Amino acid sequence: MAAGARITSIDEVPERGSHLFTVSDSHGTDREVILVRCGEDPGVRAWVNVCPHEYQRLDRGRGAAMREGEIICPKHGSMFDACAGDCDNGEAAGTTLTAVEIAVEDGAVSLVDEGYTYRHDGPRDNDDDDNDGPSSTSHIGF
Ligand code: FES
Repeated sequence: MAAGARITSIDEVPERGSHLFTVSDSHGTDREVILVRCGEDPGVRAWVNVCPHEYQRLDRGRGAAMREGEIICPKHGSMFDACAGDCDNGEAAGTTLTAVEIAVEDGAVSLVDEGYTYRHDGPRDNDDDDNDGPSSTSHIGF
């Protein structure tokens, strides 16, 4: 079935940090999504990996910074509630992360959002659109 692609097991989502994966949206554009722990059912949330203030990636490949149930934007330090996705502080105050619908069953986390198709674990393969923000350093070749 199209929905319900398995992302990972809930045990693989770090207590502090995030599990990064890639989906494609309805336009066929790849988007990064982070899974983070949340104190409310079902124990994790999925958010598009972009700070709504200036399109900054929250997880830059090594896990998002988190403290006391909040995701910390690496650019200006605004903190987002890991369960609700909202922000009431700093530069991003009044904004909310974009939610991605997931389900947890028997310890497995699945993508059930009809707006997205699961692509793969980890970051996007390319960085040819506007999702990385100005602070990206990933243009260095091998
Ligand atoms: S870019 Fe995230 S708070 Fe400014």
